[in-house]
Amino acid sequence: MAELSSKTVEFIRSPKQLLINGRWENAVSGKTFPVTNPATAEIIAHVAEGDQADVDKAVRAARQALESRAWANITPSDRGKLIWRIGDLILQHADELAELEALDNGKPVTVARSADVALAADIFHYMAGWATKLHGLTIPLSVPYLPDANFHCYTRLEPVGVVGQIIPWNFPLLMAAWKLSPALTTGCTVVLKVAEETPLSAIRLGELLLEAGLPDGVVNIITGFGETAGAALAAHPLVDKIAFTGSTEVGKLVVKAAAGNLKKVTLELGGKSPNIVLKDADLDVAIPGAAHAIFFNHGQCCIAGSRLYVAKEIFDEVIEGVAEIAEKIKLGPGLDPQTEMGPMVSDLQLNRVCGYLQSGLQEGAKAVCGGRKRLGAGYFVEPTVLVDTTPQMKVVQEEIFGPVVTAMPFKAMDEQLIRQANDTIYGLGAGIWTRDLGKAHRLANQLQAGSVWINCYNIFDAALPFGGYKQSGWGREMGSAVLEHYTQAKAVTVNIG
Ligand code: NAI
Ligand code: MG
Repeated sequence: MAELSSKTVEFIRSPKQLLINGRWENAVSGKTFPVTNPATAEIIAHVAEGDQADVDKAVRAARQALESRAWANITPSDRGKLIWRIGDLILQHADELAELEALDNGKPVTVARSADVALAADIFHYMAGWATKLHGLTIPLSVPYLPDANFHCYTRLEPVGVVGQIIPWNFPLLMAAWKLSPALTTGCTVVLKVAEETPLSAIRLGELLLEAGLPDGVVNIITGFGETAGAALAAHPLVDKIAFTGSTEVGKLVVKAAAGNLKKVTLELGGKSPNIVLKDADLDVAIPGAAHAIFFNHGQCCIAGSRLYVAKEIFDEVIEGVAEIAEKIKLGPGLDPQTEMGPMVSDLQLNRVCGYLQSGLQEGAKAVCGGRKRLGAGYFVEPTVLVDTTPQMKVVQEEIFGPVVTAMPFKAMDEQLIRQANDTIYGLGAGIWTRDLGKAHRLANQLQAGSVWINCYNIFDAALPFGGYKQSGWGREMGSAVLEHYTQAKAVTVNIG
């Protein structure tokens, strides 16, 4: 296994504090909590445990920064340059950040470098460009009750204000980047609550934000638990908007907490995405594609293609092919450059996934491959393909968030297939594999999902909006679509006689 670089060792040894008003501080309570390497179950660091008192300090700092000259009066061009610099710094420290992700989350370091870190830098570079392009409109009026009047009317897009952001552990750095970059480009200020399972890369990112020259208090970072720090942020009366990524269950709690001051809410929640292989699909593409759709990031993706529907004529061939790939996936610690799949992020997630496996097998599903926890240290689960599943089974209805796909044959591309594919409370993603693009587009139109991929899966881009239908969320991240959630339009009407 690869040794940690000296930079990472030095970072791991340094104190891990909260970023409040441009300074690193211990929690008010003085408490810390341990961070675990999921490949070994060993404790690797201790991190400040922020709670309500720290969140309150951070929110007040963000409020002050919102009105500070340093931030409110910065020109759009300078704001854009600052955000661009953050993207550059992420790339300069790419290897180090990838190593931290592998150590803390468990994902393969190669994937962290090529996907998480690269995409994180890219969204800052993309959003930097928007800083100078947040135009309002000039709007001609009719005002029927004042036929002789003359008005000059325009809208301004102003920042929504202080934003609370709560992120999960599956893409720790990338989720921070998806959240912070639109907030900064629109001139908001932020309190970011990172996931308790994976706080390290966000702390390192906080150091880079300061190095880039972000004014004090514009971004504050709180490490701590959901029930304390997260809940305090969602309920805080001085927070104008909350952006949450995580479970649908907690998303609903966030909505309730936000009701106190009617803060704006955007949510990116769970999924149970259908992945449909039609009988004319190019199986050389569709089989590895279906495997990638579920096994990427160990299935710990809100958008994982976790329900595989395959035309009955090719069902056996596809399932055999996916299972063959699954069996060859090299499990190991994320830091090992040979590793293709790391451990689940925590023992809690390991037990959740194993609970689902047990429930599926008890209800009559059959594991074509995998189906078990891998014995030994670390939180490893074997990549699993379940067949003989029925639509009512828990494994088909609920988000497993692990490397487990349920596969079902279908007879034809008809109403019944579409009904089955849409038979879920979620609506995040969907995949379609076929050589017939007419069919593909017709099917894409009928699937209830925020992202549909045709002959590909897991394609993310800073320019593409991402978000959910139904209980998969409110609003969109990335692209120009995210900007409306971080700005508010002010209509100004001038009587020009
Ligand atoms: P979670 O929803 O509890 O955690 C996500 C974030 O919310 C974390 O930062 C956590 O500290 C915070 N949080 C927890 N309770 C909170 C509360 N009452 N108020 C405010 N913030 C709170 O998700 P968890 O427990 O890590 O995973 C549970 C399941 O959620 C997974 O098995 C998976 O199915 C789903 N999930 C979905 C994600 C997605 O990307 N949509 C990401 C992570 C988990
Ligand atoms: Mg939770």
